[in-house]
Amino acid sequence: MEYQYLIDLNDEKNWLFPIVNREPNGNVWEEARTIHYPVGKESLMRVTDSVFHPQPSAHCHYHRAAYEIFFWSMAPLDYYAAGKVAEVPPGCITLHRPYEPHGFGFHALTRKVGFFHRMDMPLEDGICSALLREKQPDARRRPDFPKAGAVMTDIVRAEDPVDYRRVPWQEMDGVRSIDRPLAVERFDGVTMKMLIARWETGGVKEVWAAEMEKGFTAASNPWPLRTEMLYVTKGEVRFTVYDDTFIAYKECIVKLPKYGEYRIEALSDAVVYDVGGQTEWFLLFRDRGSICASDGARLADAEAMRELKARHGCEIRTIGKN
Ligand SMILES: [Fe+2]
Repeated sequence: MEYQYLIDLNDEKNWLFPIVNREPNGNVWEEARTIHYPVGKESLMRVTDSVFHPQPSAHCHYHRAAYEIFFWSMAPLDYYAAGKVAEVPPGCITLHRPYEPHGFGFHALTRKVGFFHRMDMPLEDGICSALLREKQPDARRRPDFPKAGAVMTDIVRAEDPVDYRRVPWQEMDGVRSIDRPLAVERFDGVTMKMLIARWETGGVKEVWAAEMEKGFTAASNPWPLRTEMLYVTKGEVRFTVYDDTFIAYKECIVKLPKYGEYRIEALSDAVVYDVGGQTEWFLLFRDRGSICASDGARLADAEAMRELKARHGCEIRTIGKN
């Protein structure tokens, strides 16, 4: 059986149902492709990749249930939220929670890799939309085509921003950068940085960046109990899962399947984001810090540490440095 561990975002083979969204005047404003369809009751691991074109509308909208986490690249963009607008540099991340209206202004081609949860747009919807485009390419432009409901799940149009106050991006709550982490934990060969906390996502996930030094290694438990999703934004990392080996590089998504023991080795300095976000890294590190300060013997007790990691869903058994 073939399992797709590695999803290169730049390989068109991985663009599921690419679409082009146009303004009413016909100008292209978004080239979008679904990269991964959501799974489970929280609709986790929905991934999209879009390139936006300069456009007059900020397309302000909000969601009633969905959370969005966007990785931006290629060019700076204007981000509108909470009565403020800021220029967000490439490399930043934005977080959009339910009932937080948000809009974006683009001045050059700008790329967004999006990770969603609680936005229920399953594979069946993708297939049905693709079928509609094939059979009736103009259907969505017809005045009698339904405007709400199943057409776009949980995307509610908001008024366009007027008189928003311009501020530095650091003053926007939803903008995150690896240079301004919410928490940092250092180990030999790797620095973990929290960009999005679990209390900001309805408790569903948290997003950490792992800054790996060349030679850093990590090995999982024999049968990890959850599929994990990682996003490599810098460097090269070799993964071994079961008896399969592959190298992930910049702009690759990596899926590590439930039950598959894996090993990671950074072949260069690398940055890898935990975008599946299931491990409770923050609680794990806080608990470990407390134990470290109060009870060094327990920290050295392998069984106690195994139990601590299991409690917080951490499947990393060992880390090291080559
Ligand atoms: Fe949104």
